Amino acid sequence: MALASLGVCYYPEHWPQKLWAEHARTMRSGGIKLVRIAEFAWSRIEPSPGHFDWQWLDTAIETLATEDLQIIMCTPTACPPLWLIERSPDILPVDINDNVRRFGSRRHYRFASAVYRDESARISQAVIDRYAAHPAIVGWQLDNEYGCHETTLSYSPDDERVFQRWLEKRYDDIDALNRAWGTVFWSQEYRSFAEVGLPNLTVTEVNPAHRLDYWRFASEQVRQFNKEQRQLLRESRGSERWVTHNFMGNFVEFDHFAVGEDLDVATWDSYPLGFLDQGWFSDEEKLLYRRIGHPDWAAFHHDLYRAVGRGRFAVMEQQPGPVNWAQSNAQPLDNAPAFWGMEAVAHGAEFVSYFRYQQLPRAQEQMHAALRLPTGEAAPAWAPVGQLASELENLPATLSQAAPIAILFDYPSCWASTIQPHAPGMDQLESAFHYYSAARTLGLDIDFVVAQSDLQGYELIIVPGTIIVDSAFVARAKASGAACLIGARSGSRDEHCALPTTLAPGALQEIIPLRVLAVDSMRSGAVRSFNYAGESYEASRWHESVESELEPRIRCDDSAGLWYSANNNHYINAHVPAEFLTVVMEKILSARDYRCRPVPKGLRVRSRGSLTFAFNFSPDIRRFEVEGASRVLGDIDLLQGSYAVWNTPGE
Ligand code: GAL
Repeated sequence: MALASLGVCYYPEHWPQKLWAEHARTMRSGGIKLVRIAEFAWSRIEPSPGHFDWQWLDTAIETLATEDLQIIMCTPTACPPLWLIERSPDILPVDINDNVRRFGSRRHYRFASAVYRDESARISQAVIDRYAAHPAIVGWQLDNEYGCHETTLSYSPDDERVFQRWLEKRYDDIDALNRAWGTVFWSQEYRSFAEVGLPNLTVTEVNPAHRLDYWRFASEQVRQFNKEQRQLLRESRGSERWVTHNFMGNFVEFDHFAVGEDLDVATWDSYPLGFLDQGWFSDEEKLLYRRIGHPDWAAFHHDLYRAVGRGRFAVMEQQPGPVNWAQSNAQPLDNAPAFWGMEAVAHGAEFVSYFRYQQLPRAQEQMHAALRLPTGEAAPAWAPVGQLASELENLPATLSQAAPIAILFDYPSCWASTIQPHAPGMDQLESAFHYYSAARTLGLDIDFVVAQSDLQGYELIIVPGTIIVDSAFVARAKASGAACLIGARSGSRDEHCALPTTLAPGALQEIIPLRVLAVDSMRSGAVRSFNYAGESYEASRWHESVESELEPRIRCDDSAGLWYSANNNHYINAHVPAEFLTVVMEKILSARDYRCRPVPKGLRVRSRGSLTFAFNFSPDIRRFEVEGASRVLGDIDLLQGSYAVWNTPGE
């Protein structure tokens, strides 16, 4: 058995039937094993209400199966056809400004629409009845990219009714809602649930608890939608096949952990260059990594989705060349598509599927590269991906193991930081990424954990400024015996987005005895300098005034405290550079006699069972060696975009 397989996303409906057999043969000759199909094909499966055309899909599946290709079958609910929208226009989502979002692209539906839930169950049931027992189908993908194009939150009158019912279930009594939200402020008090509107179109800021509950409600609709679809497969003849959903990068609009509970494997789509343009990265980083992507971006998501899939994840869409949707759409390094594939495998991916098999010369994504050109000839990614396929055949199958470092990730905290940002650059996803990046340069593996995860066995648990922290998590983190590193802003709100009664960091005071009395949200350019171990650093963006009997381990130059420690548990009360966080983490681990293996700039390592992988993102050659292991792939001097693999038999 190979360590992992490669796949492609394929759209037989885009090509004349006479080409399909040739496509399938070519895929197989290139080492492709898996083919994902049909996620956008509703209008071809059911051209008019109740009239199904299975002939083309039967033929496509048989053609692929003839070449021994395994199929990932999709339910087609991401694209309701025009006839359905004409019949039931209130399926369409409504944006925050009250504009109906029209037919003409994709994802034009509201999760809370009962009509759409029924229609989705009907079409998915039809596809499942037809193919569930087909021997070529190895797994199912439900829908595609829930929430993409800002479709998690919708603001129609029907959304409002369903939200009111949801609130009634949650609070039972309207006074309980009034108390939890603090509606006495600005005379917002409600007398019944039927009076509670949607949190949009108000004169100024909406009550944050109202927004947070609306986000929870919307996230719950996604979870319910997915659950209902999942149930259809559970009750089908193919119930032993695995089921997944294809999630996205840089995307936190619903609780992925909650959706993941109803999936066997989490998959996501990795576009490392496409996302380099979005947010966070400095211009210098964007330029440095323009053809390979940021060293931690894909890895961060691989590790996050491994947690969403409770240990099982894969890449459903891997960037093969320039995309069409970023600000600038760079050509990757020649080997980048293979490099990204191997990197996913190093993080535990069960398969990597490239998006897409062949570039379509028309419609929205005509400028999006593929493994084959629009003419059918090999695109630049074809040869490296073929090479990766044979490398994977020769690596021993081995499983991911638990990592020494755990980072807490919480979706409602991401929503809370959007609802009341308070300072630029303190977005929860960005903070989690910042701590992740810092930990990665220690050369250690990282797991993401949820409030309910088992925390036994970790050396270090990081709470990266997580705004809403569950007290049961705090108790288990304390009992785990791991060291804790808690970042600024952690535990600073309760589940209703209110300040904790004991002040921040709320429940985390069980781990470190201090209270946050005030926050200095720092203007761009304003900094507080400090020194540690002969280096000087600058705190920026956010700095807290802390009250504690603990003597700060570091003070800023103006004498304000910065780093507080008690029993190898730590609190950093400001936004600090990743380089400093790395030093802190190394100190914490060395106090536990745990050895780090710091990596040179731009190089990253990851272990999977007996294998150790090294990846060079830096434009400079990086040398790396694993003592006592045999190198099974690559060179010790790594060029940008190249990798090496070592095996330590017996591990
Ligand atoms: C993904 C999506 C695909 C395709 C791709 C382009 O987000 O699932 O259908 O649009 O992006 O990069």
